[in-house]
This record gives sequence, structure tokens and C-alpha cells, in this order.
Amino acid sequence: MGTLEDGLAKAGIASAGRHLFICLGPDCCAPEEGEKLWEFVKQRVRETGLRAMRTKAGCFRICTGGPWLVVYPEGVWYGAVTPERFERILREHLLGGQPVGEWVVVRNDLGCGRL
Ligand code: FES
Repeated sequence: MGTLEDGLAKAGIASAGRHLFICLGPDCCAPEEGEKLWEFVKQRVRETGLRAMRTKAGCFRICTGGPWLVVYPEGVWYGAVTPERFERILREHLLGGQPVGEWVVVRNDLGCGRL
């Protein structure tokens, strides 16, 4: 076990600009599908240097239409995310600042926009 400081640094909390949560199934999508997306997201975040934390979510209780990707602080929910779709989300939303409107299922920033 490392130190708390090491853990916080490894998680990238101090430098993160976004937090991506991904449900890997098994009820909203096949676990292989979710795992494939997770590996792709991990690779592309590293390659692009995007300042984003990544977290595997156990289940969002939607349990259909996945894999689900939630982007905070915007609170944008994308369903049926494939690696190909993530590539566009990466370019247009995460790097470009404009959510991919046609794929946004719901949006709720939990009031952060009011701060
Ligand atoms: S298993 Fe993904 S939302 Fe429930």
C-alpha cells in the first residue's frame, strides 16, 4: 500500500478537468463490450493527454442501452457508447468543448452550473 499522497497523485485528482464514469455492464451491455470500451477510453485519454479521471461504475441502475458514459462536471450522459462513438465524443466534447448533441440521452450537472 502506498501513501495517501501517492494515491491522490496517481488518481490525478488535483489536475483533473473532467471525470468520466463508465458502466461496464453486465445488464446494460455485454461485459466484453464494456471492457473493450474501457480499454479504448484508457488508451485514448493517455494518448491525447486529456486531464480526466476515469472510473468504472458498477451500475447506474438504468440497465439497458449501455455501455453508459457520464461526463462531469457537465453531467452529460451518453448511451450505447462504442469505441468509434467515443472517438467522436473525445474530439468534439472532451477536447472541443461541445457535447455530441445527437447522442446525449440526458443532461444534469447536479447544480454545479449554479456555483
Ligand atoms: S449494468 Fe449498466 S446501468 Fe446497470
